Amino acid sequence: MKFTAFAAVPAVALACAAPALAEPQAEVLHWWTSGGEAKSAAVLQQEFADNGGTWTDMPVAGGGGDAAMTALRARVLSGNAPTAVQLKGPAIQEWYEEGVLADISSVAEAEGWADVLPESIADHMKCEGKWCAAPVNVHRVDWIWANAALLEASGIDMPQTWEEFNAAADKLLAAGVTPLAHGGQAWQDATVFEAVALGILGPEDFRKAFVELDMETLKSDKMIAVFDQMRKMRGYVDANFPGRDWNLATAMVMNGEAAFQIMGDWAKGEFLAAGKEPGKDFLCASVPGDGFLYNVDSFAMFEVDGEDKQAGQDLLAKLIVGPKFQEVFNLNKGSIPARVDVELDAFDTCAHLSAKDMGESAEGGSLLPSYAHGMALRGAQSGAITDVVTAHFNSDMSSDEAVQMLADAVANSM
Ligand code: BGC
Repeated sequence: MKFTAFAAVPAVALACAAPALAEPQAEVLHWWTSGGEAKSAAVLQQEFADNGGTWTDMPVAGGGGDAAMTALRARVLSGNAPTAVQLKGPAIQEWYEEGVLADISSVAEAEGWADVLPESIADHMKCEGKWCAAPVNVHRVDWIWANAALLEASGIDMPQTWEEFNAAADKLLAAGVTPLAHGGQAWQDATVFEAVALGILGPEDFRKAFVELDMETLKSDKMIAVFDQMRKMRGYVDANFPGRDWNLATAMVMNGEAAFQIMGDWAKGEFLAAGKEPGKDFLCASVPGDGFLYNVDSFAMFEVDGEDKQAGQDLLAKLIVGPKFQEVFNLNKGSIPARVDVELDAFDTCAHLSAKDMGESAEGGSLLPSYAHGMALRGAQSGAITDVVTAHFNSDMSSDEAVQMLADAVANSM
C-alpha cells in the first residue's frame, strides 16, 4: 500500500529529496553606534539570531545617518548593495525609483501590517502601493532634555515659552553654566532649528514652510524671528561644540556640564543606557509651542541575489514589526512603538507623554514630519535648507540674509 511504502522510505532519503531550506542571512547597514543606539541594535541582532539568522553588521558611525547614506550610495553604485538598510522618509521612495528596492508585500500581508500600523506611518512604507520598508518606531524630535538637579539648584522650571527658555538660559550663563549642550554637525543645527521653527511658526506655517515649501512662509517675518532665536541659541552653546557628537552633548547634560539639550528622544536612550531615571535625574518636555515632529526609523530591503539573503530579508521584516520586538527595542531606543497594539505599561513618563501628544496632534492636524530627519522632503530640498541653517548658525549672518538665502536655496533645489 502506498501509505506503508511511503512510511518505509528511510528518513535520510526523504531529507535528500526535500529542497534545502535557505538559512537566513542579512548584512545590515545602520548608524546606531552610540551607547543607547548600539544597545537597541543588539536587540534586533539577538532576535534575528534566535530565529536562525546570521547577521553581518555594517554600522556607519555618525548621528543622523549622513555618513551611512554616503556609504550606502557607494555600495549600490558598485553593484554590491547591503541586504537591509536603515532608511526613512522620502529617501525610501527615491531608492525605489532607482529600481533597487525589494517588494516586501508578502511579509506585510501575511503579518497584517495594515491592521496594526497607523495610516500615516504605513504611507511612508509604501512605494507605488507595494510595501517597501518596515517601520521600527516613532521618535519625537521636538524635545527639550534637562539635568534635573541643575535646574533645581538654579531655581529654573522647564520652560513653557521661548521667552522663558531665553530667561533661563541667560540666568544659567550669568552663573557660569552652559545653558545648551550642542554638537557640531549640520544635522544637529537642523534639529534645533526645526524645534525652534515649530514653536515660533506654529504647526500650520511649519507645514507650509517645510512640507509644502511655500515661498511666502519661507520669506515671512515669522521666519526671520526663527533665525533671531537661532542666533540666541548660538550664544547659549559652549565654545567647544564644533565636531562634537550628539551623544557627547547628551552626556554633558547627564553630567551637569550643561543644563538643556534639544534633541529627539534617541537622547533618552542615552540617559537610560547610563542608568538615569526620567523625572529624577533628567527631565523631558516638548519644546514651547504646539505640534509633534515625528521621525520613523525603518528598514528597506535591497534587491540581492541568493535565497539565503532573501530569506534573511523576509525574516528581518517580520521580526521588526513583531509586537515583542517593538516593545523591547523601543524601551531601549527612547522611541515608542510604531504598532498601535503594543501596551505601554513598561514605558516611562516621557514615552507616555509622546504617545498622548502624538494622538492629540494627529487629531488636531499638528502631527508633522521632521524635515531635519528626512521625513518631510526629498534629499535635495532638505539638504538645501540645512546648508542655510548651518551657515547661519556658524557665522554672523543676519536673519534677513538667512531668510533670503533660504528662499533662494529652496527655489534652486526644485
Ligand atoms: C535616527 C535615530 C538616531 C539618530 C541619531 C536619527 O535620524 O532616526 O534612530 O538615533 O538619528 O543618530
